[in-house]
Amino acid sequence: MYSKILSIGSYVPKNILTNQDLEKIVETSDEWITERSGIKERRIASKNETSSVLGYYSSLKALERANLKPSDIDLVICATNTPDMQFPATGCLVASLLNIKVPCFDLEAGCPGVIYALEVARALIEAGLYRNILVVTSETLSRYMDWSDRTTCVLFGDGASSFILTRSDEPGIISSYLMGDGNLGELLKFPAGGSRQPASIITVKNREHGVKMQGREVFRYAVGYMADACIKSLDKANLTPDDIDWLVPHQANIRIIDATAEKLNIPKEKVYVNIQRYGNTSVASIGIALDEMIESNLLKKGQNVLIVSFGAGFTWGAMVFRYI
Ligand code: ACO
Repeated sequence: MYSKILSIGSYVPKNILTNQDLEKIVETSDEWITERSGIKERRIASKNETSSVLGYYSSLKALERANLKPSDIDLVICATNTPDMQFPATGCLVASLLNIKVPCFDLEAGCPGVIYALEVARALIEAGLYRNILVVTSETLSRYMDWSDRTTCVLFGDGASSFILTRSDEPGIISSYLMGDGNLGELLKFPAGGSRQPASIITVKNREHGVKMQGREVFRYAVGYMADACIKSLDKANLTPDDIDWLVPHQANIRIIDATAEKLNIPKEKVYVNIQRYGNTSVASIGIALDEMIESNLLKKGQNVLIVSFGAGFTWGAMVFRYI
């Protein structure tokens, strides 16, 4: 039995925060942000838009596109790094909003959580255990930022995307490669609020409740590992970069995207980029991109797609699928 991505949907909040808006919050400039990251603006969730709510909206769109009802879903996996709360799992909250009672859980694996979740869903379908799995990827990173730290707050944004995976007679998901190295975790972390450093007045005073990143180091590893994951995933699929119609990378930094494509010798016309409009939406970025590509008729049935991501953990991974 094979698995395929039957449908994708995404949702981004209406509220736009531009680089010019950020100039009023921290010591930065549109020029610096654009040059170093490629980002021009990002979306910010409203007070009522939690990660589960964004994921609910993207799931409705994915269901509609697949012509399915919520009751057709047998399992919900939610990849997020910014859950509504420590528990219950955001996946359970999405299932509740969809008004379905099914097994539901969260998967946290940094930005590549999307590829990890697709791989878990694929394995469960190909083992014959489930028929239609909803993979929700959702982030409200704006709530996890230290808005006085210009080295991080200019980079991230909010958004969600959902995938429906189902059984198939021919391979839709063709191959994947996942990897991680926990020894590098210190380079990108959200230090407080967990069992190591529970929330306290001191952690709040020390601004430990915000994303901390050593940008240069992260950048260096991201370029090498993303290209490597692509090559390993293509090798497993018995394909070369020439066989790929689209490279859809995690949208973290335009320079990382360009360097990855260059290492793979994939021309720019085959690389989808929308970082200028959304910033880094972590797990949600690849699905938001794919949904836009379907809407604008860029992604067509029968095309081969290579997705790749890198993030906190460190984790990284790539997947090759045929959009059928
Ligand atoms: N505005 C203006 N100046 C700034 C800003 C800002 N927002 N942020 C930092 N600077 C300054 C720094 O203080 C530094 O000044 P100094 O030279 O006087 O010390 C200077 O700009 C250069 O800073 P660097 O950090 O060296 O800049 P760099 O060229 O490395 O770009 C960036 C920084 C954009 C963060 C880059 O390193 C990067 O993108 N790294 C990867 C980050 C990433 O991809 N993270 C996500 C992957 S995982 C995930 O998605 C969760």
